[in-house]
Amino acid sequence: MFRWTSVNKITPDIIRSWKVSGRKITALTAYDFPTAKLLDESDIDLILVGDSLGMTVLGYPDTTRVRMDDMVHHTRAVSRAVTSALIVADLPIHSYDRPDLAVENAKRLIAAGADAVKLEGAQACSEQIRAITGVGIELVGHIGMLPQHVLEEGGYHRKGRTPDEREFLLKEAEVIEESGGFGLVLELVDPPTAASITRSISIPTIGIGSGYGCDGQILVFHDLVGYFPWFTPKHVKPEGDVAGEVRKAVRAYVEKVRRKN
Ligand code: KIV
Repeated sequence: MFRWTSVNKITPDIIRSWKVSGRKITALTAYDFPTAKLLDESDIDLILVGDSLGMTVLGYPDTTRVRMDDMVHHTRAVSRAVTSALIVADLPIHSYDRPDLAVENAKRLIAAGADAVKLEGAQACSEQIRAITGVGIELVGHIGMLPQHVLEEGGYHRKGRTPDEREFLLKEAEVIEESGGFGLVLELVDPPTAASITRSISIPTIGIGSGYGCDGQILVFHDLVGYFPWFTPKHVKPEGDVAGEVRKAVRAYVEKVRRKN
């Protein structure tokens, strides 16, 4: 597939090296061409084609209805726009239930233009992680609150507050590191636990709602710019009001058209 690339293209090795140099990783989600292009032009380091697109773009209540075809479609759109940022695409629920399936679907996301893939969990899917990295596909782990398990868990609960949870999360992080992942998303992890995991492992951590002791931060784009006003997670302080701007522009247009008739 044809892609514009830049001499400044961010690679997994560059992201890894920032763990040592201390440069913080900046990451946001994007699911479409214009958003991805704006993020890329704004110097973002990593773009995640997250399965959060289930809520932000497709209107589902959570990520559990997202399918591989959705991820491939949106990864293609993002990859047409990006020249510099590293593109990571999510493997959706059930797309990595077995190691062979995980490899097949990771290959589909790479063919759609992703530079790396992300999946949720570690010890429970260590064979899948090793199978993916074993064929040379770059992988980011995701531990803490796992949105693909929101129905079993009955909501989005913070993790890592008890000694048992702290020990479990550290083991999870070590499994990603030992299985060849080059980075790790920590979602809704208690900040002291997230900082302690960050100090304990050699690969960078990227936090969401997990405090500033991580090696980088990621947010859902729609939350950051105020484009999903019906729900804002507690950890987000929106930097914009895109929903307000859209409403203003559409109302102005509606009034203008009606005045002309
Ligand atoms: O799908 C997504 O947007 C994510 C982020 C919450 C990290 O996985």
